[in-house]
Amino acid sequence: SWTMVNIVEDAVTAVREQVGDGRAICALSGGVDSAVAAAIVQRAIGERLTCVFVDHGLLRKGEAEQVEQDFVAATGVKLRVVDAAERFLKALAGVSEPEEKRKIIGREFIRVFEDEQRAILADGPADFLVQGTLYPDVVESGGGTGTANIKSHHNVGGLPEDLKFSLVEPLRALFKDEVRRAGEELGLPAAMVWRQPFPGPGLGIRIIGEVTQERLDILREADAIAREELSRAGLDREIWQCPVVLLADVRSVGVQGDGRTYGHPVVLRPVTSEDAMTADWSRVPYDVLSRISTRITNEVREVNRVTLDITSKPPGTIEWE
Ligand code: XMP
Repeated sequence: SWTMVNIVEDAVTAVREQVGDGRAICALSGGVDSAVAAAIVQRAIGERLTCVFVDHGLLRKGEAEQVEQDFVAATGVKLRVVDAAERFLKALAGVSEPEEKRKIIGREFIRVFEDEQRAILADGPADFLVQGTLYPDVVESGGGTGTANIKSHHNVGGLPEDLKFSLVEPLRALFKDEVRRAGEELGLPAAMVWRQPFPGPGLGIRIIGEVTQERLDILREADAIAREELSRAGLDREIWQCPVVLLADVRSVGVQGDGRTYGHPVVLRPVTSEDAMTADWSRVPYDVLSRISTRITNEVREVNRVTLDITSKPPGTIEWE
């Protein structure tokens, strides 16, 4: 719309004024906020923006490619990709405790980002750091991180505190729906623009138990099926988010053909919410649940049971860890 064009253009102008002929760095997460912020800054200063995408190996199916291929194609952003999956897996080896996982993932992320930052600064000074801070984050009314005091949150906004950068925050006056519309206006991939909230620690906190490559692969497949069926049923806008959780340390007996199986359960956690501070479990139609269950148990060999979480928040949080 006309007003959205104005909002994007005004933001581009403001960034151009703030940054002058300086350089800027931006960490991309795969989510809409950092993507829209980066796209605006790219329009303002072009090649003088360098984006960094730390692939921690904990994203869902297709999300890394969305950043590396689709986002770059849509914006022309200069991007450095760090494949840090192995490093994160190594750091997470043997760890099951949720807070410990969160801290390790946050810590490793900062270390990798700092290395990249050093490499970027070797090419010349950069004084600006781009962040996708939204208006609700500014007024601290939640911003999708409703239980930050209960769980140690990690996101790419939470970069090292001792950085000597000036912050560029082109989304500071915007609400989430405006950010999404700006993303459409900027021609970003729809899957990014409409991505539901996804935690910084990613699938690492959706595997109950130790995080391993094999478990990540299992969960990634199950999650992709659930997302596909929910989208196909037209429920994307109605559902706030639907974590799929792998109970990796639990096994149950099942039957397939004439054979016994001894696989893992997954939990579907579809919720409705306004701001993630409180949530209710979504009344997803039985036929949709049925399709998800049938497909996951048919297509993901290691999963032989699909269960539904019917707990509101409170007392349950949205994520299991
Ligand atoms: P909980 O599980 O606390 O989640 O009810 C509330 C909302 O926050 C998301 N979440 C996170 N987002 N970094 C984030 O950026 C995190 O570490 C994190 N942990 C939870 C969760 O997906 C839900 O939308």
